[in-house]
Amino acid sequence: MKLLILLSVLAVSAIASQKRYDGYQLFQVTPKDQSSFEAMVQLYEQSENYDFWIAPRGIDFAMDIMVPPAYTSVFVDLMHAYSMEYRVEMIDVQTVLDMAREERERTPRVATPRYSVDWNTYYDFNDISAFCNEIAAAHPNMRSYESRAIPMVKISTGGSGKKAIVVDGGIHAREWISPAFVTWLINELVEKYAAHPQYVDNVDWYIMPVINPDGYQFTFALTGDRLWRKNRRPNNDGIGGSSCMGTDMNRNFGFHWNEGGSSANGCSDTFHGGAAFSEVETQHVRDAVLAVAGQAEMYLTFHAYGQYWLTPWGYTATLPSDYTQLYNLAVSACNKLTAVYGTRYTIGSSTNVLYVASGGSDDWAKGGAGIPFSYTVEMRDEGLYGFELPARQILPNNLEVWEGVKVMAESLF
Ligand code: ARG
Ligand code: ZN
Repeated sequence: MKLLILLSVLAVSAIASQKRYDGYQLFQVTPKDQSSFEAMVQLYEQSENYDFWIAPRGIDFAMDIMVPPAYTSVFVDLMHAYSMEYRVEMIDVQTVLDMAREERERTPRVATPRYSVDWNTYYDFNDISAFCNEIAAAHPNMRSYESRAIPMVKISTGGSGKKAIVVDGGIHAREWISPAFVTWLINELVEKYAAHPQYVDNVDWYIMPVINPDGYQFTFALTGDRLWRKNRRPNNDGIGGSSCMGTDMNRNFGFHWNEGGSSANGCSDTFHGGAAFSEVETQHVRDAVLAVAGQAEMYLTFHAYGQYWLTPWGYTATLPSDYTQLYNLAVSACNKLTAVYGTRYTIGSSTNVLYVASGGSDDWAKGGAGIPFSYTVEMRDEGLYGFELPARQILPNNLEVWEGVKVMAESLF
């Protein structure tokens, strides 16, 4: 009882001191012609005042843009100047964050009978780390290991010559559904082994549920920022030597690094770092993946949001030579996914379906580590809640994505 009271006191002070978004509005904007699209691209690339939750893709494609109160009128004027269609999706972002936090606080953190996490609410990095150790300790015949900073769970029934699937999650801090799915996946493979042994007997899994632990933890921290995206290393290797916080780890991988869709500005949310693999976290992932690259046939990286099942490449509109295979497998996966609740995913190469963005873990896994089947999965939703996907959607999301992942795994049997 005492502990519960203490937790709720902490939670109240958290509301008082996390970065606040009072009066910030989330706009949905759809450019209808080339000049307004270009104006939005310029805003995306050159202004630090706006947070593009969904980046510009092209004419007729909606963007989600968070606008601080001081810029609302400038922004609305710009909309009118280019006769762009817009609507306000969130009239006050802070209210949305507060409501989600209150709901989390109301949700009893019972966790599962055996583990530190469940899938009814979101858990911070300490809990996820504990879960990795607990599930490994409870199943000593299934080997696992945790690296110094970033947990990687190996799930295997042993034997040699098996193909492997590598999974990363939590590369972008604010995309909470990613670790919530990836930890669930570990649990499903290990705890529900008897229900579907083929998914563990036929392939080995190397699963990293949170590869950006510092950023992820910052989105929970009392003095943090719920909408933080990057890691938390202060940088001074941006353009002009300005010092700012954090590198976008999904722009920092070393395959066609810095070839578009990333920023040289250390203050930008898509800062690509001073060099490929300038960040310890991406170095760690690189080394861990290279150690199993000979065995690995598939790489899956989980993000939010938008409901896309994306193939490489992200650095160029040119398609990989095996695109048809990659595409067809994604179609089969998404058919099974959609069959669960009707949730629709868009399939295609990152550049063609979204936008150019070089330095992603998916591109590097395929082009750098030579893992042929590489995908980025952007999970729920389509923007109604965005990053603040209600916790009650965790399990439905996980169940439908699992159907897709099963199809992916079966292709290697
Ligand atoms: N939303 C993801 C991002 O911006 C998409 C990444 C897709 N992959 C890529 N290599 N661009 O990081
Ligand atoms: Zn992401």
